[in-house]
Formats: sequence, C-alpha cells, structure tokens
Amino acid sequence: MFYSFELEQYLGELLPARNELLNEMESQSLKETIPVVTPPVGNFLALLIKMSKAEDILEIGTAIGYSTLWLAQDLEGRTGHITTIDLNIDRAKRAIEYFKRAGIEDRIDVLFGDARRIIPTLEKKFDFVFVDAAKGEYLDYLSLVLPRISPGGILVVDNVLFRGWVVPGEKFAPKYNRMVTHLREFLSKLTQNPDFQTSVLPFGDGISVSFRIK
Ligand SMILES: C[S@@+](CC[C@H](N)C(=O)[O-])C[C@H]1O[C@@H](n2cnc3c(N)ncnc32)[C@H](O)[C@@H]1O
Repeated sequence: MFYSFELEQYLGELLPARNELLNEMESQSLKETIPVVTPPVGNFLALLIKMSKAEDILEIGTAIGYSTLWLAQDLEGRTGHITTIDLNIDRAKRAIEYFKRAGIEDRIDVLFGDARRIIPTLEKKFDFVFVDAAKGEYLDYLSLVLPRISPGGILVVDNVLFRGWVVPGEKFAPKYNRMVTHLREFLSKLTQNPDFQTSVLPFGDGISVSFRIK
C-alpha cells in the first residue's frame, strides 16, 4: 500500500498553524466531503510559487478556493494574478466569497465552465499551472495546457498516483480500471515529453511537478 494516511497526517502536523480562513475551509470541505488538497500539498504549492516567483498562474479545479488561497499566499506585496476554472458554479461562487474575505478577490479571476472549452479561449501564457479537476480528463488538460506554459514555467498536477493504485501490482476495484489506465498513460506522456523535466512525488495523492526546459 503506497498511500499512507499516517504519512500525510504527520506531514500536516509539521506545518505551522494555518490562518482562520484556511482552517474554516478545511472544516467545511471535510464536513461536506469536498475533495481539496491536503495541507502539506497546499504548503508545497505556496512554496513553489515563492521559489519560482510565478506571476501568471492558472488553476484547473477551484472547488471552494482552498488550493487557490495557498497559491495566492505569496502574491501579497508583489504583482501576480491567478485565473481559476471550475464547472461547479455553486462551489466557485463560494470560492469568490472566500477570496473577498481574504481581501484578494481583485487578484483572482474565477471562470465558470468546462476547462476543456475555456482554456483554448485564454489569450495569455502562464508561468505556473496547477491541475486538480477530473482525473479522467487529465490527458485532455495536458494537451491544452502544455503549449500555454512559458519557458521556465511549472506544471503541477494533483492525484496522479490515485491512492497508489497507479503503481503496477497495486490492487483496486475493477470500476477504477479506466481511471488508473488513463493516469498511467498521462504520466507516461508527461514524463516522456522532451520539453519538460518531471518528478512524481509520493505524498498527498501523488503530485507531478514539471519544469519547462525548452
Ligand atoms: C478536487 S476538486 C478541486 C479542489 C481544489 N483544487 C482544492 O484543492 O481546493 C476538483 C474540482 O474540479 C472541478 N472540475 C471537474 N471537471 C472539470 C472541468 N472539466 N472543468 C472545470 N472544472 C472541473 C469540479 O467541479 C471540482 O470542484
């Protein structure tokens, strides 16, 4: 079993206390079973933004804006902008309320609709893209976002190991066959792309980090 709840819990305990808003969002998502990144993954996103000084950030899969607030953490006091997309309008509206409460609504554009339709309409390139939407659509997102990542830009994708089931030999219910096959194909395409250097990290639900080298 590669997925470890205990590991994630321990990594979470090592983090400094989160602010009131993030704590509230964590409780809400737990209560309503809204799938959001774990705190260690959120912290990792914030760290990557800090290290890369990314300015134009795209997120696919806003939900109630929990990961968006981690992505926005370093934007205070400097320029930078986030575009985030979700097809669930109710959730995205709640995200906007949270962004207002955080005082950063003017730095975040929330786009409602299917990312596969919206991405081709976006005019700019991004230096940081975070994908966390429907796992069965990852290959579609990949072909749409890769050409939009600037040289030196970063792509981070969540849930790529899907509870560890993507690892050959792991056992899972047959109903997940298609999803696991899709994610294996996605990882193979991503890691073999000569324009990007990629690492897959086994925490959270598995995260890929790719850097545009050409
Ligand atoms: C795992 S949740 C996102 C969690 C969020 N990133 C966080 O950690 O706080 C996935 C979200 O993707 C959205 N989604 C699924 N398919 C989508 C698509 N094709 N286009 C846009 N959003 C999509 C869902 O509505 C859902 O809110």
